[in-house]
Amino acid sequence: MQALQIAVKLAKPTIGLIKNFYPATPAKLAALIQLCAVGICLAVYLFTLKISEHSIPLPACVLACALIATSFSVFTKMAVWWRYINFLFPISLWASQSLHIPTTFYLISFLLLVVIYWNTFQSQVPFYPSSVSLWKLVIKIIPKNRPIKMIDIGCGLGDLILNIAKHRPESEFSGIEIAPLPWLVSSLRALVKRSNARFAYKNYLNMSLKEYDVVFAYLSPVAMRQLWEKASQEMRPGTLLISHEFKIPLLEPYKTVKAHKEATITYVYMMR
Ligand SMILES: C[S@@+](CC[C@H](N)C(=O)[O-])C[C@H]1O[C@@H](n2cnc3c(N)ncnc32)[C@H](O)[C@@H]1O
Repeated sequence: MQALQIAVKLAKPTIGLIKNFYPATPAKLAALIQLCAVGICLAVYLFTLKISEHSIPLPACVLACALIATSFSVFTKMAVWWRYINFLFPISLWASQSLHIPTTFYLISFLLLVVIYWNTFQSQVPFYPSSVSLWKLVIKIIPKNRPIKMIDIGCGLGDLILNIAKHRPESEFSGIEIAPLPWLVSSLRALVKRSNARFAYKNYLNMSLKEYDVVFAYLSPVAMRQLWEKASQEMRPGTLLISHEFKIPLLEPYKTVKAHKEATITYVYMMR
């Protein structure tokens, strides 16, 4: 009972401390939340050890850590998926320790995640590939009566661009990617498939969108405002900005389309 009182006493100033950390990216906030949860559990563990002969069993400590981290994510109004991540993190850490997996496995997994996701913790735009139905939809949206120049800003493994380039050999297609491994894979795929699509290792924020007739983006809600600021300054009137799944805030699209009934919306903006 006393241990619980201590945990509650510590929780209040800790939430204050976490809130002072704003504005922070969710990944940094989650890391801070985990540290605070461990700190509270450790304090309660040591206190219990001091006042009684029994220590709190490790699984109970881990579960308490997970629950504290989850409630902190609720109090700090993190997005719902971060509540699950914060809950599962201490449990999976403990589970993986119990399985005695060789440490090289963690090193290799970490390096692999770094080259795939790169600075996702900052950009908040993770890699996930688009679907075949979306590629077909984009082929229908882009202008058909003339050669065009199209770019996928954040092309992942290059599927969308490679596929459209195959259907439109008279046009120029390119993709850029900020994460090294997806960029390398897309470039190699273009070579192997003898595609005329080109891929570059670039941040779209550091290049001009002026020359493109169509700019395709499948990014994240966080990126949309900045994307619009850039596109509206650089893209020519009459050109298209296609954003899959994520709408530009406070801006009515020229049209919205869906690959099929259950598909997510694709927003098409015509530049003025
Ligand atoms: C949802 S995936 C898009 C996948 C791809 N367009 C497709 O259709 O399969 C988003 C990608 O954007 C990349 N990305 C995020 N920010 C970027 C930036 N500023 N410049 C270039 N690529 C970026 C990420 O690394 C990630 O691979």
